[in-house]
Formats: sequence, structure tokens, C-alpha cells
Amino acid sequence: MSRTVLITGATGTVSGALMDALSDVDVDVRALVRDEAKAQGIESRGVQVRVADLGTPESLPDAFEGVSDLWLLNANGPRAPENSINAVWAARHAGVQRVVRMSVFGAAHGAPTRSGRLHALADHQLESSGLRWTILRPQYLMQNLLGSVDPIIEQNAFYLNAGEGRIGAIDARDVAEVAAKILTDQPDHHHAKIYSPTGPEAISFAQAAAQLQQATGYDVSYVAVPDDTARQSMLDAGVSHWLAGMLVEYGQAFSTGWSDCTTNHVKELLRRPPRRFADFARDHAAAFTSKR
Ligand SMILES: NC(=O)c1ccc[n+]([C@@H]2O[C@H](COP(=O)([O-])OP(=O)(O)OC[C@H]3O[C@@H](n4cnc5c(N)ncnc54)[C@H](OP(=O)(O)O)[C@@H]3O)[C@@H](O)[C@H]2O)c1
Repeated sequence: MSRTVLITGATGTVSGALMDALSDVDVDVRALVRDEAKAQGIESRGVQVRVADLGTPESLPDAFEGVSDLWLLNANGPRAPENSINAVWAARHAGVQRVVRMSVFGAAHGAPTRSGRLHALADHQLESSGLRWTILRPQYLMQNLLGSVDPIIEQNAFYLNAGEGRIGAIDARDVAEVAAKILTDQPDHHHAKIYSPTGPEAISFAQAAAQLQQATGYDVSYVAVPDDTARQSMLDAGVSHWLAGMLVEYGQAFSTGWSDCTTNHVKELLRRPPRRFADFARDHAAAFTSKR
């Protein structure tokens, strides 16, 4: 019997890479999007689309009907656990067999960021759902630096309140390939497992800047800024108060060495080492230079 995988967060970074990773696998892929205008680009990839909103439970049954496997990714925000529970509830009612949830590195009730604490709430709900479940808790995504393309191009620099902290940053494509592997292995294989995928090394943002410089041929510096400077520049760029506060919390945690670690989980699951930051920089060099 063919399997149908429902992808939430389908217009986002990790889920987009997951649809790529599943494109040559023999499963039906269905994407949940909340904005019909964004469906076209996904449908043109041969993926079925259902329009629904994880914050609106009554919109979910049609999207979940006939689904065997759910990739559950919630956008950051204070209502993320509510949206996660809505999806888990819809999955239970639809007879979904397995849920693989995107959480975050170090998710725990005592985590130093609200994101980590909210993910812990949602993870625990899934663990007690009665469904087969697997949780991914990846480190910082290398792709986050694509959000600093403008200052890198305009000022040859990017600015964070992460001090000299090192992070076991991971390429979103590796998170997606790990998710694809779990979603296509036998349903019981990864049940009740929590994986924390990381990149191969913990690097500082200064090292990341040097790698971007090498890949692009342009000067790139990392400038460590105080918390309030980081917060204000995000607010000035239109980031919400909640999100700016949460990102400052991550910078503070990174600066204390909280993410200065790696795991073997990518290699154990994919039988190959994770991509290095240099690989990410090389593959995305055009994005950091295209407007110059
Ligand atoms: N960035 C990191 O370093 C990192 C590391 C580990 C874990 N994480 C976790 O990864 C998740 C974010 O992943 P990402 O960066 O791939 O996401 P993203 O690019 O920010 O995209 C978020 C996705 O969620 C969708 N969405 C938002 N609200 C929704 C709703 N109410 N109903 C249905 N869909 C909704 C968005 O759709 P629209 O296009 O309609 O907005 C979009 O497709 C978060 O849970 C975060 O904590 C992030």
C-alpha cells in the first residue's frame, strides 16, 4: 500500500528541502499550506496541496484524510504548542500512523530560550499522543545566515549578539535528509526516539564569516553586538517583539557556549558525515553575491 506523507511548513526552509529529499522516493507527498497563493510553486513540483491553518482545527480534517505519515513543523511563536497539538489531534482522528516532529536543540522545560521551552511542551504532547513518534532537535541552521544577506552585501558584515560562542550548526538539507530517512523507514524503526542532528564541527560566527569570504571572494566580517543593539536592529527591520526577544535569547545562550557541541546523529542515520559550513558557503555563494 502506498504511503502518503503530509508536509507542514511546506513553504519554509526545512520542509522545502524535505520535499526535495522525498522527490525520488516512492511515497505520495502532500503539502499543507495556509495561503493558496503560495500553493502554485509547490504543485508544480508534483506535490498535492491542501490549504489549511494549524491554528484553525476545523480546517485540518481534509488535509489529514488518508495520510499515513506526518512531518510536523511549527513556525516559532507563542502559539506554537497550540498549533502542534491541533496537528497531533487531527492526526489521531485521521488514523495517521507516525509523526516526525521538528523540535529544537536542547528543548527542555528549563531551556534558556522560550523557543526551547515551548518546543518541550509540544514534544511532550506528542510523546503522550498514543501515536508512533520521532522527534528531531537540530542545532542552529546554517541557512539562518541567508537572513543576513543584505548587511553582508551592503556592509561586508553581519551582526549578532552571540559573542565568541561556537555552535554545532547544521545544514537544513541534512535535517531534511534525516527526516526523509525516518519517514521512509519502517514505521516502528524510530518510534520513541529523539535525535539531535548537528553539523560536523562547532564553529564560531567569525569562522563562518571567514568561510563566506572564501566562498564569495568578498570581505565578510562577523561583528558581535550587545543584546539591545541586536534587538533594536531586528525591530527596525520589522521583526515582531516576541521573535526579536527569542532570537536575542538564542544569541545570549550561544555566547555562553550553550551550543558548543556536536553529535553523530547525522552520520548514524545517513551513513555519511554532515555537510560542513564550507559546503553551505560554497553552495550558497550566489545568494551572498547576487545583488553586488
Ligand atoms: N532556524 C533554526 O536555526 C532552527 C533550528 C532548529 C529548529 N528550528 C525550528 O524549526 C522551525 C522553523 O523551521 P523553518 O525555519 O524551516 O521554518 P520557516 O522557514 O520559518 O517556515 C515556517 C513555515 O510554517 C508555516 N506556518 C506558519 N504558521 C502556520 C500556521 N498557522 N499553519 C500552517 N503553517 C504555518 C509557514 O507558512 P507561510 O509561508 O504561510 O508563512 C512556513 O511554511 C521552528 O519550529 C524552529 O524552532 C529552527
